[in-house]
Amino acid sequence: MTTSHITPSFKFEIPAIDDQHSQLIDLITRLEQGVNGFLPNMFGVLEELQKYVREHFSFEESVLRKHNYPEFDEHKHEHEVFEAYIKHMARRIELGKAELRLDVLKFLKLWLTRHIQGTDRKYAEWFKQQGITIEPCAPTGDTP
Ligand SMILES: [Fe+2]
Ligand SMILES: [Fe+2]
Repeated sequence: MTTSHITPSFKFEIPAIDDQHSQLIDLITRLEQGVNGFLPNMFGVLEELQKYVREHFSFEESVLRKHNYPEFDEHKHEHEVFEAYIKHMARRIELGKAELRLDVLKFLKLWLTRHIQGTDRKYAEWFKQQGITIEPCAPTGDTP
């Protein structure tokens, strides 16, 4: 069972995106609960988080590319840095070289909330200005 910890300031009134952000925050919250001893399958949830992060970033990137968003490269770069960090962390945990600690999860959540409130909000506002609607499913094979 998960609880949405997403606050109104995270909401862009774009349901497809708002739902995905909410899911991401919930996954990290579940991991935080796991660190406190309430989650039996921590590693499974961490894998789920990695997978969902990739799915969400892919979705955003495909939408931004499709509409020629002017700050696409910078946005994608932020995604890449975050993903590389999670991948590195998960690998170290898998190899037994690190533990999933609360401060690491707090860092993940902080990064994500800042990204949503800053970098993501920028594209949401740009899309609104342009009168572009984001559909729930990103079209595939949309390269010109
Ligand atoms: Fe996002
Ligand atoms: Fe993003």
